[in-house]
Amino acid sequence: MPLSCTQLSVQYGRRTALSEFDLSLEKGEIRALIGPNGSGKSTALQALAGLLAPSQGEARIDGTVVSKMSRRAIAKRLAFLPQQPTAPDEMTVAQLVRQGRFPHVGLFRSYKAEDERAIEWAIESTGLARLADRALQELSGGERQRAWISAALAQEAGILLLDEPTSFLDIGYQVEVLDLVHRLSRERGVTIVMAIHDINQAIAVSDRITLLERGELRFDGEPRALAESGLIESTFRVRGQFVEVGAGKPPHFDVELTRLQRSDP
Ligand SMILES: Nc1ncnc2c1ncn2[C@@H]1O[C@H](COP(=O)(O)OP(=O)(O)OP(=O)(O)O)[C@@H](O)[C@H]1O
Ligand SMILES: [Mg+2]
Repeated sequence: MPLSCTQLSVQYGRRTALSEFDLSLEKGEIRALIGPNGSGKSTALQALAGLLAPSQGEARIDGTVVSKMSRRAIAKRLAFLPQQPTAPDEMTVAQLVRQGRFPHVGLFRSYKAEDERAIEWAIESTGLARLADRALQELSGGERQRAWISAALAQEAGILLLDEPTSFLDIGYQVEVLDLVHRLSRERGVTIVMAIHDINQAIAVSDRITLLERGELRFDGEPRALAESGLIESTFRVRGQFVEVGAGKPPHFDVELTRLQRSDP
């Protein structure tokens, strides 16, 4: 199993952000991680990537406990795109994407042909060829987000963790990124976990969906079962309904744009 965790809990001080979380992914699976703001999605991804120490339980990559692996060993297997990544402003797109290759290049930082190919592929796949030499600070929010996706792709890891990778993208690039995620899974067997707010995109792209609420696992199963569970309405405190849009297509959540019984915890 490429990626799993059992009874994983994370505390920030005395507050529990993730509570006894279980997850297990098949090779090549696309998993959407959904849940309200503050429900623990980013926390879960960071713990899976070995960037946060759990207070209980453990995450495993290919059966090895993540906390016992070196950063470099993790980076060879797993690429993580955080929700708000940071890099020096003057860094260019090409430099950022090259950095994605660091786990592969040797001690003397010599890039081989395969490294150059991976970098070129990552830049092309995210539509950044024309922007390769631009500084990150001279990019729009969506262009910058694509540059980060590109850097994660260049790593060519078998496991990809993406924290809201489409949040700044226009609808065209949203579809493109989701399509890319789908191809990576189906053509390269990449195992993907993606935190995402758009329920319909989550349902359309993922094999299984994990729903978190206040740090606790509420649902783990196939998209259609989630649609039938009634959990979207209750967890997000909205009214809406799932509608069928055609044979062989997943149901579509049609939200009523009135806020009923919404109250902060
Ligand atoms: N560094 C931190 N220190 C203290 N509390 C934190 C920290 N990061 C997150 N939290 C808290 O932990 C909980 C889970 O946060 P997390 O970022 O995992 O949520 P999320 O599901 O990713 O939310 P969003 O949809 O807004 O990105 C929240 O209550 C948040 O306030
Ligand atoms: Mg988050």
